[in-house]
Amino acid sequence: MVVAGQAEGRLAAFLARWRDPLEDRLRAYAAPGADCPARLSEALTYALLAPGKRIRPMLVLMAAELCGADPTEALPAACAVEMIHTYSLVHDDLPAMDDDDLRRGRPTCHVVYGEANGILVGDALQAMAFQALSEDIPDGSVAARCVAALARAAGPSALVGGQFDDLSAESLPATMETLQAIHRRKTGALLTVSLELGGLVAGGTAEQLDSLRRYGAAIGLCFQITDDLLDATGSSEDVGKRTGKDTDKHKLTFANLIGIEASRDAARQWAGQACAALESFGERAGALVELAQFVLERDR
Ligand code: IPE
Ligand code: IPE
Ligand code: MG
Ligand code: MG
Ligand code: MG
Repeated sequence: MVVAGQAEGRLAAFLARWRDPLEDRLRAYAAPGADCPARLSEALTYALLAPGKRIRPMLVLMAAELCGADPTEALPAACAVEMIHTYSLVHDDLPAMDDDDLRRGRPTCHVVYGEANGILVGDALQAMAFQALSEDIPDGSVAARCVAALARAAGPSALVGGQFDDLSAESLPATMETLQAIHRRKTGALLTVSLELGGLVAGGTAEQLDSLRRYGAAIGLCFQITDDLLDATGSSEDVGKRTGKDTDKHKLTFANLIGIEASRDAARQWAGQACAALESFGERAGALVELAQFVLERDR
């Protein structure tokens, strides 16, 4: 995993410990069930097992451990979040959306499997995410809370609503308020719910969940600001997806609205706010603090 290669200290140790269990569980979820067409299973595996950074599922596992659980218990929730994330990428890359041909260093799903099949891969991943939560979290009431939280984060007031406004941003006022509202929903919501799911699986307290959500919201904005910066300043080879496209597509981004240096400052501020939200956890939040630094400094 790319994060593991760049991270240091406690974060690196956590990633090294949980990388293989996570990949193994993702592979098992992508394996064909009865009646799943072989080519569909192949496409699901292509999208889900591609070398993503796995930030969201690792956040689930880290939050679970921080709230006192064995991260193994949170693997179904971690996989569910990565499935929603991967579906959002497959659909985001479609010709009708951002029209991209490179993702995670490989041709995009629809380039390899066709546009209609790309849509269906996303559809399947969404259903699989909620199946994983509802079938594989043993406590039924915890499972129901996780399903509700993930549905809200993936839905029209969050991820889908943010993507909707991202696509029609030209008809919205080009203000910081509009931009942050897009970024909070299209990217922040899924990062926030990743932490929330880890806390829920672990039976975290209301205070712990609140701290985790505040960290998630701040890291979410930081993450999309650095994504905007990578599009403006990174190379496709390093980033693993086409760069320099946001301006061509008239996207409302931090780089386009306030410029590179002010965007770097904003990312730094949000990373600081993220870390401040973890104060009540003390030293034990070390890996999440390091993750905030990684998100701020990432080069892909
Ligand atoms: C890309 O997310 C989409 C955004 C929300 C900016 P990541 O940068 O986490 O993508 P992968 O999972 O590592 O490919
Ligand atoms: C999309 O933001 C975030 C998603 C919900 C997928 P971008 O369109 O900027 O993501 P990339 O740059 O294609 O990964
Ligand atoms: Mg997009
Ligand atoms: Mg895109
Ligand atoms: Mg982008």
